Amino acid sequence: MQSVLFVCLGNICRSPTAEAIMLHKVEQAGLSDRVVVDSAGTGSWHIGEAPDDRAQSFGARRGYDLEPLRARQIDIADFERFDHILAMDRANLRELLRLCPPPLQNKVQLLMDFAPGQQGAEIADPYFGGADGFERVLDECELACDGLLDALKANQ
Ligand code: 4NP
Repeated sequence: MQSVLFVCLGNICRSPTAEAIMLHKVEQAGLSDRVVVDSAGTGSWHIGEAPDDRAQSFGARRGYDLEPLRARQIDIADFERFDHILAMDRANLRELLRLCPPPLQNKVQLLMDFAPGQQGAEIADPYFGGADGFERVLDECELACDGLLDALKANQ
């Protein structure tokens, strides 16, 4: 069993999008009983809320179901529980590394590190922007999740 936690700021736009994409890809690969997927936010503002309406509708147009997901905040136990803790941007990464016990920090990295040729790239916060930002988040998460799935398969 391998486990992946996607982390953004609010857990209502980027990380639930990545979660829904990864759940879809894991299911298509027939690995649903081998891979655990979840998401969380570094912030507490949106705890218990469904994903942003725009994230839900742009995701649904590509076949991803964000509707059942609910926002939660990262918990210190997550650093033990998950094998890969994947930040959307450098601010998320910094906050995760601040919270993470030093022996577990090798689990924490940027999601885009798994997108071929895009190590170190960020997935920008779409919350205060327009539709193009949400489409870009979907494009980037799809690319990175393909690479992540390959890495998980290689670890089987
Ligand atoms: P997310 O986007 O981190 O991708 O979920 C945001 C959602 C809410 C806020 C900021 C970013 N906010 O300031 O409430």
